[in-house]
Amino acid sequence: MGGVGLFSLPSSSSSPPRLSSSVSLCGAVVAVVLVLISNGPAVCDGGKTSTFVRKVEKTIDMPLDSDVFRVPPGYNAPQQVHITQGDLVGKAVIVSWVTAQEPGSSVVLYWSNNSKQKKVAKGKFQTYKFYNYTSGYIHHCTIRNLEFNTKYYYVVGLGHTIRKFWFMTPPAVGPDVPYTFGLIGDLGQSFDSNKTLTHYERNPRKGQTLLFMGDLSYADNYPNHDNVRWDTWGRFIERSAAYQPWIWTAGNHELDFAPQIGETKPFKPYTNRYHVPYKASNSTSPFWYSIKRASAYIIVLASYSAYGKYTPQYKWLEEEFPKVNRTETPWLIVIMHSPWYNSYNYHYMEGETMRVMFEPWFVQYKVDVVFAGHVHAYERSERVSNIAYNIVNGQCTPVNDQSAPVYITIGDGGNLEGLANNMTEPQPSYSAYREASFGHAIFDIKNRTHAYYSWHRNQDGYAVEADSLWFYNRYWHPVDDSTSV
Ligand SMILES: [Fe+2]
Repeated sequence: MGGVGLFSLPSSSSSPPRLSSSVSLCGAVVAVVLVLISNGPAVCDGGKTSTFVRKVEKTIDMPLDSDVFRVPPGYNAPQQVHITQGDLVGKAVIVSWVTAQEPGSSVVLYWSNNSKQKKVAKGKFQTYKFYNYTSGYIHHCTIRNLEFNTKYYYVVGLGHTIRKFWFMTPPAVGPDVPYTFGLIGDLGQSFDSNKTLTHYERNPRKGQTLLFMGDLSYADNYPNHDNVRWDTWGRFIERSAAYQPWIWTAGNHELDFAPQIGETKPFKPYTNRYHVPYKASNSTSPFWYSIKRASAYIIVLASYSAYGKYTPQYKWLEEEFPKVNRTETPWLIVIMHSPWYNSYNYHYMEGETMRVMFEPWFVQYKVDVVFAGHVHAYERSERVSNIAYNIVNGQCTPVNDQSAPVYITIGDGGNLEGLANNMTEPQPSYSAYREASFGHAIFDIKNRTHAYYSWHRNQDGYAVEADSLWFYNRYWHPVDDSTSV
């Protein structure tokens, strides 16, 4: 978002042609007949598997000299600038950036559009080593006591090369405050990643804050987890993340656990580079925390931290759900990395152990929607739960449940590992819509009862909605909002 606009859409990765409607319709008919023959009435239970088939092409990372990775000019110029919410309610912002030549200043100069009176906030910097890589000077500075619903300008790099950015604080927390969240997962830094981010930036629905479902840079796919790719990723996302908060979730690609090269501390690059306000929600770890923003209460969970009974995450969540006041924040959103309901033949059942532990609470507290990543495709579930099973009663099939959340897998950011395009067949009844395409989504809260959700595939124009529905709030308007019959 905003003024930098350093992106390119190389011609070599132009949008693949769609199948002609006659070919795709013919294929769909054949597929349906085959499934009917082999599976009988089971096919009637499933939702929709999109007939859009993306042309198979290799997903490759953008080269190091791509313009989106450009180092900003000037001595010790701040780079990889990004912001996130810095407190529980949205009156604070954590500003982070990296300087390369020397530490320089950790001070942020900022002022509001209204007062113009300049203020300073002092941060700190840190560095880390990873095998044969040494990081730049990573600065984190929290700006506090901001006014709600106000545009702020901020400057970093004082004393050397300054760079100026801006952000909007959210409206005060309240039940009917409209607010728009963008949703991206598993982004990486391929040519497809660049398309996803561009589509998000140009989406006319205008996401105001991005919920990121984990798996950021994919640096760990390089020899020795080449942390230079953490730096390029930070520069890649700056054009959005310096201007609107990205709310972070840790994925498996943040683990960077590599004992073979002496790196035994999990999450080292991630925790050095991406700070979150976990203490504000009484969490003891940056991997699980919550924030309120406008009319939403957002709980971030950690798929790769312990969540069994008595663990810190379990204890925290047990105390967290009763704190959610739907009269203050009607929309209860949970984000995590590994999905619980997934019908692709990738990472199948990986979220199952967490589901067993936490799903009864999700139903009891009427979570509106759960966003996950990890599977590199798109999928939306019906409102289902699977909490009746007790080992001996045999009730182990998900059932429709209007107190349950909709589960959305949005791990289709476009990283170098490519698409997950192999699906379980027949489509299970819990799956309402699935498609193996890269894209992003928008959750557009209108008031306490209604939110409009849309998923946008990269092959389409910026305004096109490939999947969409109205969400009815589970607390204020809990009527059936399913789209499959
Ligand atoms: Fe993942």
